[in-house]
Amino acid sequence: MQITEVKHYEEMSKKASELIINRIKQMPKTVLGLATGSTPEGMYKELVQAHKNGEISFSNTTTYNLDEYIGLPSEDKNSYRFYMNDRLFHHIDIPLEQTNVPNGMASDLTKECKVYDESIRQSGGIDLQVLGIGVNGHIGFNEPGTSFETGTHVVQLAPSTIHANARFFASEEDVPKQAITMGIQSIMKSKEIILLISGAKKADAVFQLLHGEVSEIFPASILQNHQNVHLIADEAALSKVKENGMRSLR
Ligand code: F6R
Repeated sequence: MQITEVKHYEEMSKKASELIINRIKQMPKTVLGLATGSTPEGMYKELVQAHKNGEISFSNTTTYNLDEYIGLPSEDKNSYRFYMNDRLFHHIDIPLEQTNVPNGMASDLTKECKVYDESIRQSGGIDLQVLGIGVNGHIGFNEPGTSFETGTHVVQLAPSTIHANARFFASEEDVPKQAITMGIQSIMKSKEIILLISGAKKADAVFQLLHGEVSEIFPASILQNHQNVHLIADEAALSKVKENGMRSLR
């Protein structure tokens, strides 16, 4: 795992956007895997700005989002489709039909999961996947205990995830209890991964990610087995690792 330490959230966002821009410049047909949540918001702002400055076109790029809540229509401001349109897609030149977010309103969710995996496969697979991490080590919505062998599937959200995400909803009761997520297997098939982590509340998770055993109890630990992960983390997120002596895993 390649580790880049940055000072703060803004630097993490800038660095991540630069990596994505360079990648798309090298390969305009890049298939991007994207995340939602607080962590990548700054990165999306940087990408929108770069596009507005004429620095980058996304017209040949295809995107696949990691996850979506079940039961929220795309117009709901808490759906991840709404988030992606609002933070990125509506401000860049990517045709919306090249953007993919699992459909949490599908009547047949099992079929939706299969179709999503098949679509990723037909696109040639994800070239560059952006990930955040939950305080409990989840990636996508693969909660602790999820098998490492899963493709896209339906999950029950962990109480800690519902609690963490309640900040976006009127109350904790309003947070959907289920979601569709790309599986660990889908994520591990990505050719390259950028993992973004910011803030002291993630310091324990970063420590476990780098120093813990590879175990389904802490889903992100599987990233130790991926050949091309670039962790970009700020000082606060790396604080516990640094207390214990930073080491690179590769
Ligand atoms: C979101 C996702 C999640 C988040 C994680 C961290 O699409 O897949 O795994 O990356 O919950 O969320 P934030 O960034 O809000 O701390």
